[in-house]
Amino acid sequence: MDELARMRERSKTIWALGDYAAVARRFEGVAEEVVAAAGIGAGDRVLDVAAGNGNVATVAARAGADVTASDFTPELVAAGRERTAGLGLDVQWDEADAEDLPYPDASFDAVTSAFGLMFAPRPEVATAEAFRVVRPGGVVAVTAWTPDGFTGQVTALMGEYLPAPLAAARPIDWGIETTVRRRLAPHAESVELARGTVNWTFASLEEATAWLELNFGALIAARRDLGERYAGLRDRLVALMRDWNRDGGGTVRLPATYLLAVARTQPT
Ligand SMILES: C[S@@+](CC[C@H](N)C(=O)[O-])C[C@H]1O[C@@H](n2cnc3c(N)ncnc32)[C@H](O)[C@@H]1O
Repeated sequence: MDELARMRERSKTIWALGDYAAVARRFEGVAEEVVAAAGIGAGDRVLDVAAGNGNVATVAARAGADVTASDFTPELVAAGRERTAGLGLDVQWDEADAEDLPYPDASFDAVTSAFGLMFAPRPEVATAEAFRVVRPGGVVAVTAWTPDGFTGQVTALMGEYLPAPLAAARPIDWGIETTVRRRLAPHAESVELARGTVNWTFASLEEATAWLELNFGALIAARRDLGERYAGLRDRLVALMRDWNRDGGGTVRLPATYLLAVARTQPT
């Protein structure tokens, strides 16, 4: 197995740790925004890449779109399939790597990825794949945490402790306007960027720390793997939350900025 394949396998096991559904619930609102910004409606063929347990897929299917959701973590594909079936939504779920999508060229009207494509280790490969499978005149919409928001800071902090790809791929580069334009513009007729904020709220710093240690896969992996170094990471995480807390009186509100990019491809 080569280095990239090893990184990929390790990454999948990390995404399967904890309770991803609990994490994803906190930013369901972004899925609504992605679907609206991409102009997804009834009958559109939509591919959601790195779909997790289906935040975007659920909203797109409720809008009447013909949705395919793909992710490379088998446990999340199973969770997503169960979620959409439980909601009575007809979504096709596939296990697939964002860098090697198992779909013919030009088979979708819209390709979306909320906080997903950003974790592919080779951004240029994942980007080319997204544009390969969208039709001419279609739309690619992606979101990523920005480096200057709370989640971007946590992603960067985790990157100091975890081996690639969560570390080396610099996922938060997808939250930098100039980088995103440089990546998308060669494939697109137009690229529109907008910023939004998700507030992570907790009753206290202690509750926030316990919640992350219970649900956030990357932190669970770090706790399991780092030995004595974990205490240092935990201290820095708590300090980060204290610095970023915008509430007074003990409660916690951590503003996480994200970038939404909507790229439209040239009609033929
Ligand atoms: C933060 S989650 C986002 C999930 C979902 N889009 C959402 O909005 O909740 C990141 C997802 O990316 C997936 N992922 C990471 N790297 C991937 C890759 N190379 N190919 C496919 N999926 C990938 C993970 O399995 C995980 O489900």
